[in-house]
Amino acid sequence: MKSRLQEIRSKAEFEIPSVKTEDEISAIKIKYLGRKGILTLLLKDLSVLPPDERKEIGKLANDLKNWIEDNLKQRQKDIKEKGIDSLKKGFFDITLPGRQTIIGSIHPLTKVLNEVNDIFIGMGFTVAEGPEIELDYYNFEALNIPKDHPARDMQDTFYITDGVILRTHTSPVQVRTMEKTSPPLKIIAPGKVYRCDADVTHSPMFHQIEGFMVDKDITFGDLKGVLELFVHRFFGKDIDLRFRPSFFPFTEPSAEVDIRCVICKGFGCRVCKGTGWLEILGSGIIDPAVFSYVKYNPEEWTGFAFGMGIERIAMLKYGVDDIRLFFENDLRFLKQF
Ligand code: DAH
Repeated sequence: MKSRLQEIRSKAEFEIPSVKTEDEISAIKIKYLGRKGILTLLLKDLSVLPPDERKEIGKLANDLKNWIEDNLKQRQKDIKEKGIDSLKKGFFDITLPGRQTIIGSIHPLTKVLNEVNDIFIGMGFTVAEGPEIELDYYNFEALNIPKDHPARDMQDTFYITDGVILRTHTSPVQVRTMEKTSPPLKIIAPGKVYRCDADVTHSPMFHQIEGFMVDKDITFGDLKGVLELFVHRFFGKDIDLRFRPSFFPFTEPSAEVDIRCVICKGFGCRVCKGTGWLEILGSGIIDPAVFSYVKYNPEEWTGFAFGMGIERIAMLKYGVDDIRLFFENDLRFLKQF
């Protein structure tokens, strides 16, 4: 009997430490101490022993029973703590807010460009495009800009080769479009232009939108009507505008358009340099010299044209005081639009 008790103990000593779940603990408990457990059955055999031995073996068997119970309890405690431990290691707080998905937005210049396009498309204009790498002929010559004109200076124009440049304005699209289309026409031509210039209000690459209309009996009144409607739609109905005489080689007469300062409403401030007015575009009646390059009969057709800087009107509309902000891609700036 003693040796059988020893055997049971060895077996239990081997089995209990390898138990990994609470279910396995219950199974072991039943196996040794259940109604038909190994130790329980052995205790039943005690009655056949003589009284002396029965007392001694009884005590040993009881000790073993307590030992098994204690060890199972300890093992159960270990398993529980280990479980909490592993939970703690991979702690997952389901009450934390989720990761924010940042939604992109349209670049302010694209937004302004789209808005300007929409206003003119609404007035019946259609969109045309031209190349950014342009011939001297279209950028200057056919626009009646003579060889000695200061705009041709290397300081303003990026030359690629003799006769090939980066266009300095969108006006060459006028010539290219008229060359292949017969009047009447009503066109806007948005796009990138390049000038060798950089400071808070100038960028070597910027955007312009050109507009022109050719038909029978187009007058300066048509130009005024179209631009007035544009200014009121883009800047608001309460914004005054004025036409100020100016000069461009490709228009005659020419005018620059000023709007009442959107910052100070005309009282005079730093942005309008105290004048109360802000220049937004150049315009005029297309010079017959330009028509002669595209073989339009100036006796039959007349037209107006205008050209405007997108960055400039975007800066005025949103109160941006440095053109470089549009090109730095700082999210803190871009997020505001
Ligand atoms: N191309 C001129 C510039 O870049 C702007 C301009 C003025 C365009 C008068 C025109 C115009 O079409 O009629 O400064």
